[in-house]
Amino acid sequence: MLTERILSQAVRTMNGHYLNLKPIDAANATLPAPKPGKRYMLYMHIPFCERLCPYCSFNRFPFEEDKARAYFANLRTEMEMVARLGYDFDSLYVGGGTPTILIDELVKTIKQARDTFSIEEVSSETNPNHLTERHIEKLDGVVQRLSVGVQSFDDGLLKQMDRYDKYGSAEEILRRVREVADSHVFKSLNVDMIFNFPAQTEEMLINDIAAILESHTNQTTFYPLMASPAVEKSLAASVGEVDYAREQRFYEIICEGLAGGDDPAFTFGDAWTFNDSANAMIDEYIIDYEEYPALGSGGMSFLDEKLYVNTFSVSEYAERIKAGKMSVARATEFSKRDHMRYRFMMQLFGLRLDKKAWERDFGCSIAAGLPAEYSFFKASGAIDTDDDEQITLTPKGRYMMVAMMRQFFIGVNGVRDDARSALPENERELLFGAGVPIK
Ligand SMILES: C[S@@+](CC[C@H](N)C(=O)[O-])C[C@H]1O[C@@H](n2cnc3c(N)ncnc32)[C@H](O)[C@@H]1O
Ligand code: SF4
Repeated sequence: MLTERILSQAVRTMNGHYLNLKPIDAANATLPAPKPGKRYMLYMHIPFCERLCPYCSFNRFPFEEDKARAYFANLRTEMEMVARLGYDFDSLYVGGGTPTILIDELVKTIKQARDTFSIEEVSSETNPNHLTERHIEKLDGVVQRLSVGVQSFDDGLLKQMDRYDKYGSAEEILRRVREVADSHVFKSLNVDMIFNFPAQTEEMLINDIAAILESHTNQTTFYPLMASPAVEKSLAASVGEVDYAREQRFYEIICEGLAGGDDPAFTFGDAWTFNDSANAMIDEYIIDYEEYPALGSGGMSFLDEKLYVNTFSVSEYAERIKAGKMSVARATEFSKRDHMRYRFMMQLFGLRLDKKAWERDFGCSIAAGLPAEYSFFKASGAIDTDDDEQITLTPKGRYMMVAMMRQFFIGVNGVRDDARSALPENERELLFGAGVPIK
C-alpha cells in the first residue's frame, strides 16, 4: 500500500530527529525531578530470558542466576534513588526480558515499590512456562495485570521461533492460559501475539484468533512482526524475510476475527490491543502516561521533553549503581514540533486525539501545529470524527497507526542495537554470538 510506504518513510525521518541520542557523562547520570501534580508510571526492565528468541530486539541476556539476583538487588537500589528525586507513582510496569525469571526477587522488588510509592496497580510480563501454580500463587495479590508472550498457537511457527522446547507446545500453552484466565487471579490477563511471520498463512492466523477466543483471556495484543536492523539476519535465517506488503491484509483478518460482526468478543484498546468488552482498558503504558521514568539496564524514560536511554550493559549497570549513580546513559531533547508529532502518533495509536489538551499544551490547533501530517491523514481517509473535542480514526486509519508504530519501534530497536554495539566484548558475544555466557 502506498500510504504504508509513505508513512514508514515519514516515521524513519522522524526517528532521525527523536532518536538522535547523545551520551551523558556518567558523573552526571540522573533523571530530572518530577513536575508537581503530574501522574507518572514507573517502568522496570528485567533483561534475562531462559531462551533468546531470534526475532527479539529487546534488551535481554541468557539467564544466569547469580547475575540476575545481583541485578534485582541493584534495581531496588535504583528505585531508592528515583524516590529520593521526589517521584511518586500510582502504577508500576515490569517488562523484559522475563520479569518472572526469579519469582521471589520479583515479588520482593514489587513489595519494596509498594512500600515506597502509592502504587495501586502492578503489571508484569511473563512467558508461558511460568504459568504454573508456584508462580501464580506468588503473584496473587502482588500483580494485577499479567501479560504472557505466546506469539502463535502454531507448533511449526513456535519451533521456527525456537520457543517450542522451552516455552511449550501450542496445546500446553492454550491449556495454561485458559487455567489462569478461569482462575480470575488477575484483573487482566493479556496474551501477546505476533502476526505476519513469513511462514504464517492466513489459515494459521485464523487458527490463532480462534485459539485466543478459546483461551478465555480478557486482553490480547497482536504485534506486527518487526525486523530491527540487528535481528534482520537472525530473523531471515530462522523464520525468513519479512514482507510488509501482507501486513494490512493480516491486520484486517485480526480486526474482523476479534472485533468484527454484530456481537464481537473484543473491542479495540489501541490499534493493536483488543480488550474483551467488559475489560475496556488500555495496557500500553506509553499512551496512558506520556511521561515515565524507567529503571534497569535497557530501560527508556520519557521525561520533560527528553528521551533517556539506560545503559545496555548489565556489568556497567552494576558499576553505576554501586557508585551511587543512576543507569541513564544517553539522552535526546524533543523540539516542540517533535513533541507534537510524538503526541499525534501516540494518541492516535490509542485511537483518540484529545484536541482540548493539545490546544492547552501546545497553544495552537492540530491543523496549525502539524499541517502536513493533518492534511495527509485527512486526504488518506484515516480520520473518522473530527470535531471540537477529538479526532478518531477509520479502520484504514487504525492500520496506518499500526504501520507507523511498527516503524517507530523498529527505530527504537535501532537505538538499542547501536547502544549494544558499544557493549563490552563478553556481553556483545551474548547478544550477537551463539548466546553462550562467557565467564
Ligand atoms: C519483549 S517480550 C517480553 C515478555 C516475554 N519475554 C515474552 O516473550 O512475551 C514482549 C512481547 O514483545 C513482542 N515482540 C518481541 N520482539 C518482537 C518483534 N521483533 N516483532 C514483534 N513483536 C515482538 C512479543 O510479542 C513479546 O511477547
Ligand atoms: S520475546 Fe520474550 S522470551 Fe523471547 S527473547 Fe524477547 S524478551 Fe526473551
